[in-house]
Amino acid sequence: MVYQIYPRSFADADGDGVGDLKGIRRHLDHLTWLGVDAVWLSPFFRSPMADFGYDVADYCDVDPLFGTLVDFDSLLAEAHDRGLRVLIDWVPNHTSDQHPWFQESRSSRFSAKRDWYVWRDRPNNWKAAFDETQSAWTWDETTGQYYLHLFLPEQPDLNWANPEVVEAMHGVLRFWLDRGVDGFRVDVVHGLGKDPNFPDAPPQTADRAWSGQNDHESTHAILRDLRRLVDAYPGDRVLVGEVYLLSTRQVAAYYGHGDELHLAFNFPPLFAPWESAAWRENVDQVVKELDPRGAWPTWVLSNHDNSRHRTRYGSEARARAAAVLLLTLRGTPFVYAGEELGLEEAWVPPERQVDPGGRDGCRAPIPWDASSGHGWAGEDPWLPWPPEPDARNAAAQREDEDSVLQLYWRLLAARLESVALRLGSWTALPSPPGVLAYEREAEHDRRTVLVNYADDTVEVYVAGSWTIRVASDGHGEGRGYEGILGPSQALVLMPTVPG
Ligand code: GLC
Repeated sequence: MVYQIYPRSFADADGDGVGDLKGIRRHLDHLTWLGVDAVWLSPFFRSPMADFGYDVADYCDVDPLFGTLVDFDSLLAEAHDRGLRVLIDWVPNHTSDQHPWFQESRSSRFSAKRDWYVWRDRPNNWKAAFDETQSAWTWDETTGQYYLHLFLPEQPDLNWANPEVVEAMHGVLRFWLDRGVDGFRVDVVHGLGKDPNFPDAPPQTADRAWSGQNDHESTHAILRDLRRLVDAYPGDRVLVGEVYLLSTRQVAAYYGHGDELHLAFNFPPLFAPWESAAWRENVDQVVKELDPRGAWPTWVLSNHDNSRHRTRYGSEARARAAAVLLLTLRGTPFVYAGEELGLEEAWVPPERQVDPGGRDGCRAPIPWDASSGHGWAGEDPWLPWPPEPDARNAAAQREDEDSVLQLYWRLLAARLESVALRLGSWTALPSPPGVLAYEREAEHDRRTVLVNYADDTVEVYVAGSWTIRVASDGHGEGRGYEGILGPSQALVLMPTVPG
């Protein structure tokens, strides 16, 4: 399981109201206790923070807000000592407009770095992310041309068709690999290769951001080079790509033939409603598109870009059932910090809203305990607390057997003891409407998973004799399965050992 940390919101050690690397280090115990295998740190690099760190001004340094390179090295060493792997976020599609490369590029049409970014005399019809009324091209007064930015104007797109850009960015990867990181979550990886003719978006999708549509074949050669670079390092280093194309078929192509991404995010399930038919279709799609390539799936319910699944699905019972699903489907699950506490979206009053993409609600600070500062040193955090921080905090939930946190703990323990859950095959079982039922199997180890999407009790027959290993609501664990699934309940069953 990979655990995503959004550093601004995780834990604050220096009391300025913004999370930092030392804060993360203080809470590694939470992660090892929970059973996390790897952490992914969202960007902590030098940045003017127009997109809260996804606008990087120096890829090889830590922003003073988060600490120093020395703090990073200590965090990495301590994480490794505890057997935790560390993935960092690499943002190769665009830099900050304050990055020295862009400053030089925009200084003159004849600058040595002019061609490091995408400059044109005329814009095409591509729209920018966050505000689709805006063009993805911004006019630069000084040099009289437009530059491309799939996101904010403060995030100019790099030109990956330029070998100097490729070399410089490879240098960034080497810098962090040499320091010992275990891999990268690659931001907007499908954006890297662009059609050199910059054709207009087709009329049907012209009003949508181009960042969700760019899918050019030249990206695959770029990825093969990245893969070679990463694989040349000792140990199992990994590239996890954010392929923000809402088609599993398109996502699958980014695994290449085992020579591109090791893992790719597949977001259609994240956007699927809480309905068994929709989920079945999504899982079938993954099996159909990924299995023939030998590609290993990933599963995500929440992250720093989308409202928390506890809020989207409308009840804690459903969020718990979804956790069972997340941690028992075939593939690598990604857990977004705070979802293991069952956190809901925070309500952020208009005067405290800061994100240009309207994503503040899922970025609220993590409450660590029930004290007034909830374990955050000093000032008020940069965003308001999520609902009920007095009860929904890490310390209280660790003490409470019925908590969401304890459910995640039990699910991760169940994974650890079962090769079927970690690596096994996935087979759908017959089930009544509203229920998703499947079996996982490997090396004679078997688990059956039942997920009730409906808010009513339902009978689900499963052949054989089964014991409830984990129940999303904790009910009946350790007892025999009697063929009944409670409202919004999910169960992990293990074969009953005779005797
Ligand atoms: C990715 C990130 C998102 C960011 C965007 C631009 O989608 O997850 O947070 O705003 O890229 O870098």
